Amino acid sequence: MPPNRIDLFQGWPSPETLPIGHLKQAATDALSNKAISADGLGYGPDEGHMPLRQNIARWLSGFYAPSQPIPADRICITGGASQNLACILQVFTDPVFTQAVWLVEPAYHLVFRVFEDAGFHGRLRGIPEDEAGMDVGILEEALEAVDKSDGGNRQTGHPTKLPRPYRKIYKHVIYCVPTFSNPSGITMSRERREALVRLARKHDALIVSDDVYDFLHWNSSSNHPPENRLPRLVDIDRVLDTDPQDRFGHVVSNGSFSKLIGPGCRVGWAEGTEGLVYGLSQAGSTRSGGAPSQLMSTIVNELFHADFLPRYITDTLIPEGRRRYTAIASALQSRLGPLGVTFTPDPGHGHHAWTGGYYIWLRLPASLGASQVSREALRRQNLVLGNGELFAVPGGSWPVNNNLHQRLRLCFMWENERQLLQGVERLEIVLRELLKEL
Ligand SMILES: Cc1ncc(COP(=O)(O)O)c(C=O)c1O
Repeated sequence: MPPNRIDLFQGWPSPETLPIGHLKQAATDALSNKAISADGLGYGPDEGHMPLRQNIARWLSGFYAPSQPIPADRICITGGASQNLACILQVFTDPVFTQAVWLVEPAYHLVFRVFEDAGFHGRLRGIPEDEAGMDVGILEEALEAVDKSDGGNRQTGHPTKLPRPYRKIYKHVIYCVPTFSNPSGITMSRERREALVRLARKHDALIVSDDVYDFLHWNSSSNHPPENRLPRLVDIDRVLDTDPQDRFGHVVSNGSFSKLIGPGCRVGWAEGTEGLVYGLSQAGSTRSGGAPSQLMSTIVNELFHADFLPRYITDTLIPEGRRRYTAIASALQSRLGPLGVTFTPDPGHGHHAWTGGYYIWLRLPASLGASQVSREALRRQNLVLGNGELFAVPGGSWPVNNNLHQRLRLCFMWENERQLLQGVERLEIVLRELLKEL
C-alpha cells in the first residue's frame, strides 16, 4: 500500500488556495484602527457589522446583477452557513407545526444533524434531482400528499413556540444547493428555480438555499460571472409576482466565506426580505451573545478594500479551481471512462454545461458498489473516497433513490494537482482489480 494517504473526500479548501497574507494584513488593519477594533471587540448590532453588510450587498449586486441593487437591509451577518441554518430553524420552524423537511437528494450530509437537532428526526425526506436539479414535480406530489393527510388543516399541531412579531413559523422547509450542488455538482435550471419558488409559496414552505459555491464557476472561458448567470432563488422570490403582504418571503439565501477565504473564519451572510433578515437577527443566542463572528467580520470587511476579495476570486481562485477541475476531469475521462465510469458535472453533458464547486460525482459501472470500492481503495491504495450512500437522506426518499450505492464523491480542492492525478491512478488500479475479481 502506498505510504502517503490521498484524501479525495475532505471537502475543505487547500490552505495553498487561501489569501493568508491578506488576512494577516486585514487583521492588523482592523485591530490597529481604534474605531474598528472597538466595534469588533464589542457584541455588535444584532444584524452584524454594518460596513460588511454594505460591502456584501454591493458585491452581490455586482455578481448576480439582479433587476434592482440589493440594499444592506436584506443582508445580515452569520457565523457561516451551518451555524445560520441552525438559527433559521430556531426562529422560523416549530417541531410540531412544521410538517417536514424536503432535501434535494443526494444531499450535503452534514446538514442532517442540524435538522435533527431542531426536532426533525424522522421527518427528513429526500427528493431526487436530475440534470436540471431538484425534481420539482416529485416534490409537488409529495407536498400535496402530506398536506392532504392533515386535511390541509394548518392548525394540526399547535406551535410550541411563542408567537413573536418578528417571525412566522413555516409549514415546510425545503433545503437545496441550487448552484454546483454538494455532492453532485449539478446546477438547477432557471425554469426549475421559478417552479420551486412558486411551489414554496403554494405550500407555505421556507426554502433554505445554500449558495456557498456560486462564485466558483470553472467552465466559462472568462473568470468573470458567466453572461448567462442564473438568478438565485432569493432573487426570484424578490421579483416574481411580488406580494407586498408577505413580509417574510419564502427563500433565505445562505452565503459563506468558508470556501473563499477559509472555513475557520466562520463568517457568512444571509439574504432574504427585510422582515426575514431582521427576524433571523432576533434569534435568542444572537440577542444575548451578539452578532456572530463580530471581530472576524471587521477583519473580513477589510478584504473589500480596493475590491481585493472579488479580484482574488476572479484572478486567483477561479484559475486555480479551473486548473484542478480540468486536470481531474480529464484524468477521470481517460483512465476510468473506458471502465464504464461517468460523472457530473461534465462539460460535455447536461442542459447547460455548468461546471463549478468542489466536487465530482462519479457513477461506477453497475457491477461495482461504492461501499466496496471506498473500503478497498483505503485498504489497498491508502485512498479516501466519499461513499455515495453517505449522502442519502436518513428517513427515506420520495420515491426511493436506489443509485447512491453506485456513486462516489471526489473533492478536488483539498489535495494538490499532483495528488489528484495520483488519486485517479490509484482508483483505476482498484477498479481494475475489483473488476477482475468478479
Ligand atoms: C452545501 C454546503 N453548505 C454549507 C457548508 C458549510 O458552510 P459553512 O462553513 O459556512 O458552515 C458546506 C461545506 O462543505 C456545504 O457544502
